[in-house]
Amino acid sequence: MEGEVQSDRCRKSHKARKAYTTNAIVWHGLVPPWRIRSGDLAKKKIYPTLWWLYNDGLLPEDTYIVGFARSKLNVQDIRKQSEPYLKVSANDAEKLNAFFKRNSYVSGQYSDEASFKALNDHLQSLLNGAKANRLFYLAVPPSVYHDVTRNIRVTCMSAAGWNRVIVEKPFGKDLESSNKLSEHISSLYQENQIYRIDHYLGKEMVQNLMVLRFGNRIFGPLWNRDHIASVVLTFKEPFGTQGRGGYFDEFGIIRDVMQNHLLQMMCLVAMEKPVSTNSDDVRDEKVKVLKCVPELTLNNIVMGQYVGDPEGKGEAQKGYLDDPTVPKGSFTPTFATAVLYVQNERWDGVPFIMRCGKALNERKAEVRLQFREVPGDIFHGQCKRNELVIRVQPDEAVYTKMMTKKPGMFFNPEESELDLTYGNRYKDVKLPDAYERLILDVFCGNQMHFVRSDELKEAWRIFTPILHQLEKEKIKPLPYKYGSRGPAESDEFIQKVGFRYEGTYKWVNPNKL
Ligand code: BG6
Repeated sequence: MEGEVQSDRCRKSHKARKAYTTNAIVWHGLVPPWRIRSGDLAKKKIYPTLWWLYNDGLLPEDTYIVGFARSKLNVQDIRKQSEPYLKVSANDAEKLNAFFKRNSYVSGQYSDEASFKALNDHLQSLLNGAKANRLFYLAVPPSVYHDVTRNIRVTCMSAAGWNRVIVEKPFGKDLESSNKLSEHISSLYQENQIYRIDHYLGKEMVQNLMVLRFGNRIFGPLWNRDHIASVVLTFKEPFGTQGRGGYFDEFGIIRDVMQNHLLQMMCLVAMEKPVSTNSDDVRDEKVKVLKCVPELTLNNIVMGQYVGDPEGKGEAQKGYLDDPTVPKGSFTPTFATAVLYVQNERWDGVPFIMRCGKALNERKAEVRLQFREVPGDIFHGQCKRNELVIRVQPDEAVYTKMMTKKPGMFFNPEESELDLTYGNRYKDVKLPDAYERLILDVFCGNQMHFVRSDELKEAWRIFTPILHQLEKEKIKPLPYKYGSRGPAESDEFIQKVGFRYEGTYKWVNPNKL
């Protein structure tokens, strides 16, 4: 059986791991300094993730990791570059050496078939190379996607095991470019070989959404337009583009965060219960949600661009346009609040408010469901709306904002919470990084937490018209100060579409009280 059950089995079982003898191939030519600030995805994320998996005994036995890129590098260089991100403890030295012994590197050109032939020869020469499974991680700039995917297909898929390809975003820039890319990739690979990563789908609390919803009786009957007034999906970062503006400016916050991370979370909140936890059953339900969402229009969005705060410290004094890698006078939004509607029987009329931005007042990602007022109030307006909050990061928690009798010699209601803070409840549990979970899923062949091509298509359908309109009409985003909540118009807009902000309650991590 596929799905979480298979994946759990795969994670736990040594026997299963043996069955997945694999050559993992890291495409670490990810030079675009934009993917991760001042570095590249390979050294900051992929190598560390493979090391954590190896260190935790979760990589299949006999896994070999091969880097491929244009630069002339060797394993020592790779080790040196990735070491600051590996989180190695003093006892791990021997294991770390063993891990790097599993690594090798081939340099070549992305458009050159002969380079890929050399790579294939190298793969064949590894232990059990001709029988191995091969996992190709395409952490490469979009401009070389076509060549790389083609060359892998033509020259590097000759081993007897499975071949799987991990594709990093951006998956195109709009519906047309994404469709083109999808057509190209699907002419080379089967859908079950393609793993489109949206790393938010690997986060603990995002994965928890399905269990919370479908593993509890208490939420099911309330999870609809009769009881829920609004849903707010938030992504906030307290820093700006920090030299990554060149990339960011080409995409903007809508493509960088809203169209993927927030929309994926929205699907998990809005979808119907899937028939099973089989990957395609889950993804079928997500696609159905997207199909019910009309295209986003200009009257349903507020956009902002940060400006420096003269009273702020260091970076905070610099605005987006002060980043030397950002084109002068750019209108690219670094903040956006948009409302989408899911026009089906469950959600008709309920605003799904997506809010995301850089250079804001805090780091936070969360899903917030706000319930309707209690009908027939007997407490003279003292009761505030209930909220169920799934706090994705930092400080993972699920809490329900609710009214309770003020303790002591009182009989009036007071805002309080039922709180499941992970740091309290699961003190000794290490929550894996999203990439760790997702890469392991690829080894296990579980596609549940990866984006299917029809999901991608629907996501672009919703956002492409407004993206084109913004670019064509050069609509200027509203300025907001570095370190603020974003433009005041965003808060006004959220209230207008149906979210009630009381300002009387703030969740505090109980560990930090
Ligand atoms: C990436 C975006 O997908 O997600 C970045 O391209 C953003 O702009 C990052 O900073 C946030 O990821 P996380 O896991 O730190 O919330």
